[in-house]
This record gives sequence, structure tokens and C-alpha cells, in this order.
Amino acid sequence: MPDSAAAAGAAPPATRVAEWLRTAGIALRNVLLGGNAAALSLLARPGKLVEYASESLFLLKAMTGRRGIPEANVFEVLDAPATSPVQLRLLRGSFGFQPTASLMSDLVALCLLARILGPRRIFEIGTATGSSTLHLALNAPDATVFTLDLPPGDFARVALRTTLMDDAHIRPSVRGHQPVFLGTEAESRIVALHGDSAAFDFSPYHGNIDLFFVDGAHSYEYVRNDTERALDCVRPGGVIAWHDFGRAGVNGVSRYLRELAAAGRTVYAVPGGSLAFMRV
Ligand SMILES: C[S@@+](CC[C@H](N)C(=O)[O-])C[C@H]1O[C@@H](n2cnc3c(N)ncnc32)[C@H](O)[C@@H]1O
Repeated sequence: MPDSAAAAGAAPPATRVAEWLRTAGIALRNVLLGGNAAALSLLARPGKLVEYASESLFLLKAMTGRRGIPEANVFEVLDAPATSPVQLRLLRGSFGFQPTASLMSDLVALCLLARILGPRRIFEIGTATGSSTLHLALNAPDATVFTLDLPPGDFARVALRTTLMDDAHIRPSVRGHQPVFLGTEAESRIVALHGDSAAFDFSPYHGNIDLFFVDGAHSYEYVRNDTERALDCVRPGGVIAWHDFGRAGVNGVSRYLRELAAAGRTVYAVPGGSLAFMRV
């Protein structure tokens, strides 16, 4: 070790004690003010306050292992060799690049699933802007990606119960814009399908899907329906992934996936994120 570095680590004892006290004081301040009282500064911005509180609750459960299903990284479950680097393709402006850090974990985990599994056929419920669709396609260069959303135009009628957040997503104004994959190198490998996932005919996809991503309506009824359809479609050894597991808002993903795990399925949540996945 160079002399200067050794000297930098050797502060006089009194200075070290002061540094310990300062660090402990900051930790105490963070505990007393960090998550609760400090958030009151957001009272004038109720939307942000709710977002902050929900993310804090999500993070608390994720950090304390109280989510009800085991946690694992994609490369552990899919047995990717520890020493092989994995190159991902991520797009600016996509859903992962937001102040909510867990969304970045989700995006990375979704791209890892596509990259490591090497799927030929992917099915997604919930196209929206096409951001996850395009990420799946770019990270699985041999795959055709089928992506299902409600028909464009009118307020879509759906067969099962939805949450208020689902209703906000399925407004025509939200679904009205062009998907981001149009005009990209992946467009020719993406097939946009329209229909309600509770009424759609999945029989052409039975047993021949390698990776299925469930991100349509988030009510318990829809998550159960969409998972049962995914189980019909995914071949043995393929993977089903869900978005929004463990989030603190109105959302049936957590309840349904905990039930699936209690029934004997091995479902994992990615550490620090809300993507859950299961090998079939
Ligand atoms: C959260 S967004 C999907 C986000 C997208 N997967 C992404 O990450 O970029 C949910 C989408 O599911 C669609 N959706 C809601 N209910 C549906 C249903 N019953 N059948 C098919 N799609 C549905 C909504 O119209 C909306 O576009």
C-alpha cells in the first residue's frame, strides 16, 4: 500500500470518535425523519406523496424479505454461467428510466429473461406504448413477439372486474398513440393482437410459447385468468413473468402469486424489483 494511502486511513483516535458520532447522528436523523416526517414536505403534491409512500412500502417489504415468495435473480434461476457477460439493449425514455428505481430492476430483469432464455416465441399481455414489447424483441433477436392489448378506439368493454388503475390505463387516450416499435429494426418480428385477454382465443399458442409476460389488467380476476392462459401456452421449461408483484397499491398480482406459490409452484421475485417469474 502506498504510504499516502496508509496515512489517509490512520486518523487520530479523537477524530475517529467524532466521525462515529457524526455518522450515528445522521443514521438517527434518517430513521426519525427519513421515511415519514420528511415526506410531509410533499403534502402540497398529493400525487407525489402517494407515489412516494407506495414505493417506500414496496421497498420496505422487498428489503426485509416479507413478500411471501422467494427472491432470486434471473441468472441464478436460468443457470447462466457466472463468468459470461450478458449484453442487454435498453432504450432511452422507456418505463425503467424513472425516479422509481424498482422499475429499472424490472426492466433489466425482463431483458435478462429474454436474453438468457433465447426464446423463439414470446407472448405478452399488455402492449400499452410497446416499450416492454420492443425490449423483449431487441433482447431476443431470434424471437417473434406476439403482444395483445384491447382494441384501439372506443372505451373497451372487458369481461372481468378491473381496478381503477386499470381503467386509467385502458382509456382510449392512453392507448391511442402509435407503439414505439413501429419503424424500428424489430417491427417485422412483432405481431400486435387485439382483444380482451379474458375472451381472446389463445389456442394457436398452446404449448408453443417460450416466454410469456403478463402485464395487462391488474385485478385479481385478470391476473388469475391471464396466468391460466399463460400456463396453457408456455412449453415445459419455458418461463412466465409478471409485472407489479408486491406493489402497495390496488393490485391483485401479489395475492394471486402468493396463492400460486402456496399451491406448490416455485415463483420468484427479483430482488428490489416487482418482476416475478416462474419456470414451467
Ligand atoms: C401497464 S400497461 C402495460 C405496459 C407495458 N407492458 C410496458 O411495460 O410497456 C397495461 C396494458 O394492458 C392493457 N389491458 C388492460 N386490460 C386488458 C385486457 N383485459 N386484455 C388485454 N389488454 C389489457 C391496457 O390497455 C394497457 O395498455
